[in-house]
Amino acid sequence: MAHPVAVQIDGAVATVTVNRPEVLNAIDGALLAELEMAFATLEADEAVRVVILTGAGDRAFIAGGDIAAMRAMTVAEGQRFVYRGQAFTRHLETSRCVIIAAVNGYALGGGTEIALACDIRLAAARAQFGLPEVTLGIFPGWGGTQRLPRLVGKGIATELITTGARIDAQAAHRIGLVNHVVPDGELLPRAHEMAVRITANGPLAVRQAKLAIRAGLEIPLEQALILEAEAWLVNFATADRVEGLAAFLERRRPVFRSG
Ligand code: COA
Repeated sequence: MAHPVAVQIDGAVATVTVNRPEVLNAIDGALLAELEMAFATLEADEAVRVVILTGAGDRAFIAGGDIAAMRAMTVAEGQRFVYRGQAFTRHLETSRCVIIAAVNGYALGGGTEIALACDIRLAAARAQFGLPEVTLGIFPGWGGTQRLPRLVGKGIATELITTGARIDAQAAHRIGLVNHVVPDGELLPRAHEMAVRITANGPLAVRQAKLAIRAGLEIPLEQALILEAEAWLVNFATADRVEGLAAFLERRRPVFRSG
């Protein structure tokens, strides 16, 4: 069997591919461990600044938590599974890297929740989203009840979570769940193009911007503005600030150095 998580690094861009096609890339404890390890390794690799997360094949991004595995779990195992999934999604959200979900097919349950924890979501036209957990007698526990309302608003989130309805890529785009919908064959090239564009920018500026956006949304505006200013100053104190501004005035491309 192919490795369930493949990591490919191309300059400052890493692509992580979930590859468990026999269950549409559903996540059990073993696959979650592989994902945790892959992202921990990338986090430690300072050369990598943008990560694209996608699913192998043309059917699924991630079809959710592994239903057979969850059926067999004791409550204690369920407790571990829910907190591990939360820690993993939180890791994506708080990573120093910008993480792009390239949603190539079904993103259901944990698949939508993982996409929600990424910074940017691109969807292939054939992608489908949904939180169908209640149809199985459970409900989303990897951040779905928290991140979906924050992204699309309480009303739409409550409807999706309590009906368990599946929506296509265009509908996901209309509600703001995905940034762009692209033709199926263009998903990875478009994700890579966006990733490369991000990596051309000031590395610390991008990193501090992600931090300010993410952490700022979790606190009141008054404190968030202070956080923004302090994050801005951390970047302002670097040679990259001098380089970026000088390059504009000298009509040349900047050469950034910070990681
Ligand atoms: N967990 C475990 N196995 C899963 C799975 C999941 N989340 N999603 C799909 N699979 C398995 C199926 O059991 C099937 O296995 P089998 O070939 O041994 O029977 C295989 O993947 C293919 O899925 P299948 O249902 O036959 O494909 P389909 O094209 O008819 O339907 C889906 C695709 C995604 C609509 C359907 O598989 C589905 O609803 N999956 C569950 C999604 C879900 O509820 N996720 C949240 C879990 S909390």
